[in-house]
Amino acid sequence: MTITQGSELNETNIGDSVDAVLRQHAEQQYAEELAELAKIDTRQRPPNWQLSPWAVRTYLMGGKLENGFEISPKYVGNARLIEIAVATLATDRALLLYGVPGTAKSWVSEHLAAAITGDSTLLVQGTAGTDENSIRYGWNYARLLAEGPSKNALVVSPMMHAMQEGKLARIEELTRIPSEVQDTLITILSEKTLPIPELNTEVQARKGFNVIATANNRDKGVNELSSALTRRFNTVILPLPATMEEEIAIVSRRVDSLGKALEIPVEKPALEEIRRVVTIFRELRNGVTVEGTTKVKVPSGTLSTAEAISVINSGLAMAGYYGDGELRASDLAAGLIGAIVKDPVQDRIVWLEYLQTVVKGRRDWKDFYRACNEVLTPQ
Ligand SMILES: Nc1ncnc2c1ncn2[C@@H]1O[C@H](COP(=O)(O)OP(=O)(O)O)[C@@H](O)[C@H]1O
Ligand SMILES: [Mg+2]
Repeated sequence: MTITQGSELNETNIGDSVDAVLRQHAEQQYAEELAELAKIDTRQRPPNWQLSPWAVRTYLMGGKLENGFEISPKYVGNARLIEIAVATLATDRALLLYGVPGTAKSWVSEHLAAAITGDSTLLVQGTAGTDENSIRYGWNYARLLAEGPSKNALVVSPMMHAMQEGKLARIEELTRIPSEVQDTLITILSEKTLPIPELNTEVQARKGFNVIATANNRDKGVNELSSALTRRFNTVILPLPATMEEEIAIVSRRVDSLGKALEIPVEKPALEEIRRVVTIFRELRNGVTVEGTTKVKVPSGTLSTAEAISVINSGLAMAGYYGDGELRASDLAAGLIGAIVKDPVQDRIVWLEYLQTVVKGRRDWKDFYRACNEVLTPQ
């Protein structure tokens, strides 16, 4: 509940159980895990943290607690990266999660905020249109005109809220925000205060306050961080999954939980279909087949794990609503091509070549080859 004014707006869902919500916040979805962790967590917590850094790491990486309770892994990959990220948040430096799209930057940011402060909703979405007000504070103009500048007329931003409560503020896609607006963060991060000159006052951050930002290296050069700002962040680079098995594990886990949330009437996808989609993604991303024998051209778009997840997911919807409830190659083909062919001319050539040189030759991929050809008949 972050809206302070006009709060009826925020209450439209009241009476609905949290299960009716399309996408729950991490702290809602994993409330039980967080509570179990808090129960057994006797290690020292930084001021105002809900859990110790040890417990936050366990929440992210998964594991079995002494009492037998199972914590599901949220991030699949190098635990050291998560440790660095968590440790950073306990210092006076902010955290910047950096990497190619779809490497779980937003996902990790949400789960870190959920585990550390129990609130992942203090979010500023970075866009070219993000202005200073969305990072500092705005005004309720009706009140401002009627009463003049007053505390009541102030519209608190998620950042200000996080400072007041000693929580974590999240900034998504920091490098999309215009440079002069980004610089608003410098005072916040170095002085830990937010001046409000109109009221001749300031908000001083409570202990526990920090910022998690994400940035995409595809946006590099759009609005690069100034060096003054860079110095205030510790950067953790999230890589693409190192191995095929790791990537398959990520995709199956996410597809499973998304499928449940959307209540699609379909069988659990066969691991074989997931393996095929992940294989195609990895081969096109790396420019070479998994056997290492054939070079393939690389398409223009990003083929991240996140896209693989949505390809399988839309395949499941096709199978559930138009197919026989079992995921088949024909359910996947359209989504797969949609993900790969982003440029209708160049990527199409890349894809057709891949179909001929790789897919066609694989003995147990005949159904796949046929399905893809049906969707993409040569012009
Ligand atoms: N290493 C990983 N571990 C767990 N989930 C991952 C991993 N990589 C990608 N994902 C999944 O990919 C999806 C997209 O990630 P997201 O955080 O939106 O990417 P971005 O890096 O672009 O912010 C999430 O649903 C997340 O679960
Ligand atoms: Mg993101």
